[in-house]
Order: sequence, then structure tokens, then C-alpha cells
Amino acid sequence: MKVLVTGGAGFIGSALIKLWLREDPRVSVVNLDKLTYAGDLRRLESLKNNPRHQFIQGDICSAEVVEKAMEGCTHVVHLAAETHVDRSLLDGKAFFDTNLYGTYQLLDAACRKRVKRLVFVSTDEVYGSRERGFFKEGDALNPSSPYSVSKAAGDLLTRSYVHTHGLDAVVTRGANTFGSHQYPEKVIPLFVSRALSDQPLPLYGDGGQVRNWIHVEDHCRGILRVFEKGKKGEAYNISSPHYLKNLDLTRRILKILGKSESLIQKVKDRAGHDRRYALNSDKLQKLGWKTRSSFDQALEETVRWYQNNESWWRAITDRSEHFKNYYEKAYAGKQ
Ligand code: NAD
Ligand code: DAU
Repeated sequence: MKVLVTGGAGFIGSALIKLWLREDPRVSVVNLDKLTYAGDLRRLESLKNNPRHQFIQGDICSAEVVEKAMEGCTHVVHLAAETHVDRSLLDGKAFFDTNLYGTYQLLDAACRKRVKRLVFVSTDEVYGSRERGFFKEGDALNPSSPYSVSKAAGDLLTRSYVHTHGLDAVVTRGANTFGSHQYPEKVIPLFVSRALSDQPLPLYGDGGQVRNWIHVEDHCRGILRVFEKGKKGEAYNISSPHYLKNLDLTRRILKILGKSESLIQKVKDRAGHDRRYALNSDKLQKLGWKTRSSFDQALEETVRWYQNNESWWRAITDRSEHFKNYYEKAYAGKQ
């Protein structure tokens, strides 16, 4: 089985490839990634001499690049995306280029090449926010940020290819994912890295927004289960039992690090900030998947990973002009 994985130099894509190659000797991977600011080959160091992993730097928006990368591939797992909500509020163009047009290029090539199965990795954000209860897969999509709209568009487009072209495709909708090697714009690595530098942690609004947190390995195992057992044309939620308000998450991070809560700085809220994400994942559990990690242990291990690998994230937070410019632009008006 030769699988084209897009976005495999990203946080989840790299974890997925490493897990898959480790656990399934039948699989070889072609990893197509543009290496945007979020792509990082340091995540793939352990695969350097692995003959079952081939890396191609390229843009999924190019029909030619996609055509070549898909040559000889029997399956596709599509994770490549612009992924940060705050960036989509500053400039949405790249989100619609990659998340919609790039997805179209992949779906079109997958049909022409008669790929056996394509997985589109979507997100819980496509349902929008709800104060109570849990979204099921049949619920209407009601996304509210340019990021989540671009993902919902890719999600719907994928299912339209099943309907109109008979492509064997499935969709996963995963919750907020955490673990090692995550780009330090996302809240957990951002807050850990800032706390370790004794810098204030910019908590949006009242910090009462609720997120469902899933460890990256549990999310990847969910994607693989849908790849193997999901029914053509269906979507599957991937969530965990761990719901936390942002303020409580921040306090836990500070406690693990032994840092003072005075580092918390409440700042202007994210525009259109979704209050609560919550999913029912019974459908995936019926395929034999469940979360394996204990949240407390996984959070502690994750925080310790950033503590023990300062050079990894400091190469971004302290030395990347791109990161510094982004941070200034995104947070300047929030103080
Ligand atoms: P990430 O930002 O860490 O990685 C995205 C990767 O895609 C990067 O390596 C980047 O270089 C690559 N990429 C971007 N544009 C590209 C293009 N035009 N062509 C080729 N490659 C391109 O993201 P992540 O957190 O690993 O998320 C992976 C997928 O999972 C995304 O589709 C995201 O929407 C989805 N998802 C993420 C989460 C989460 O909490 N992180 C939760 C649910 C779903
Ligand atoms: O829910 C799945 C989604 O989770 C994925 O689809 C996205 O790709 C991923 O980026 C993530 O989106 P969020 O917006 O939920 O993640 P983020 O880490 O940006 O923020 C998590 C929560 O923390 C959110 O409620 C906003 C808050 N936050 C975030 C940042 C960066 C703050 O309070 N301060 C911050 O500086």
C-alpha cells in the first residue's frame, strides 16, 4: 500500500506518518508538503533513512505537482492545510487557496488516478459553537471563522466527489489536538514557551471558552481507524472525554511548570470567538476506536517535552522573523 500523505511535515501529519510506518510494515508513504511557516522537517528526523518514506516539497494547489506526487499511490490521506484561526482573521487568502482549491486538486487527481480511498482530515470547528450538548455527524455544518469555513468547504467538496464521481472518500472531524512538536502559535505550546520565558500569557476574553482536548496519537489512531474501517462517504467525529475552559487549562500548565498565575494576562477576545466545541464520537467508537491516553499524564508529558526541548521552539519564537512579525501583528491590538 503506497499512501500519499499531504501536510506530513506538519504537527499531526508527521505524527501520523511516524505511527503508521512503525505499526504497519505494509505501508509506504509519499509525503507531499509545501513547507509553509508551519511545516518543519525537524519533525521527520527519525525517518531520514527510512526507505518507506519519500518526502516531496510541493504545493497541493499545483495540478502538476499533485499529479506527479500521486503517481503509483493507491491511497491518499489529506492533512495539508492552513490551520491557525487567528491567522485566518488577519488574511484569509491562503486558507481558501490551500484548504479549498488545493483540496479540489487532490480530489480531481484521485478520481483520474482511480485511488482506492481518500481521507479528508477535517475539524470539529465545522459544526460551529454550542453552549450545551454534543454534535453528531449528521448535524448541519455552521462554521464561523474564515478557517472553519475553508475546512467546511473542503469537507463538503470531498463528500460531493463521493456523490457525483463515486470516489471512495471519508472525512474525519477531530477536536483540539495537543502533543510535542506543535508550532508555538497554538495555545498550549505558546503558553508553555512564554511561561518558560516568564512572559505574560495572553488569555483571550474571560477565558471561559471550552475546548475538547485530544492527544495527537489518539487523533492519529482515529484517522487510521476511519481509513481502515470507515464507510464510503461518511464523516466521523474524533473527540476525547476531556473538556476544559481555557482559564483552567492555563492554570494547569502554570502548575506543572511551577510558575505563578500572575503571568496570566487577560486580553481582548478573538473576533467571533467560538464559545464551546463538543462532539459525540460514538460512531467512531463503534468501529473499535477509543482514546488511550490519560489527559493529565499526556498534558504533563507534553509540557515537559517543551521544557526539555527549548532549542526546538526557541528556533521559532526567538529566531524566526516570520514568527516575531506574526506575533506582533496578531497581538498588538489586544493589550
Ligand atoms: P500544521 O499547521 O501543523 O501543518 C500543516 C501542514 O500543511 C504544514 O506542514 C504545511 O507546510 C502544510 N501545507 C500548508 N499548505 C500547503 C500546501 N498548499 N501544499 C502542501 N502542503 C501545505 O497543522 P496540523 O495541526 O498538523 O493539522 C493538520 C490537519 O488536521 C489540518 O487539515 C487541520 O485542519 C486538521 N486538524 C487540526 C487540529 C488541531 O488541533 N491541530 C484539529 C482538528 C483537525
Ligand atoms: O478544534 C480543532 C481546531 O483546534 C483545529 O481545527 C485548528 O487547526 C487548531 O488551530 C485549533 O483551533 P483553536 O482556535 O481552538 O486553537 P488555538 O490553539 O488557537 O486556541 C485554543 C483556545 O485558546 C481558543 O479558545 C483560543 C484560546 N487562545 C488561543 C491563543 C493562541 C487564547 O486564549 N490565547 C491565545 O493566545
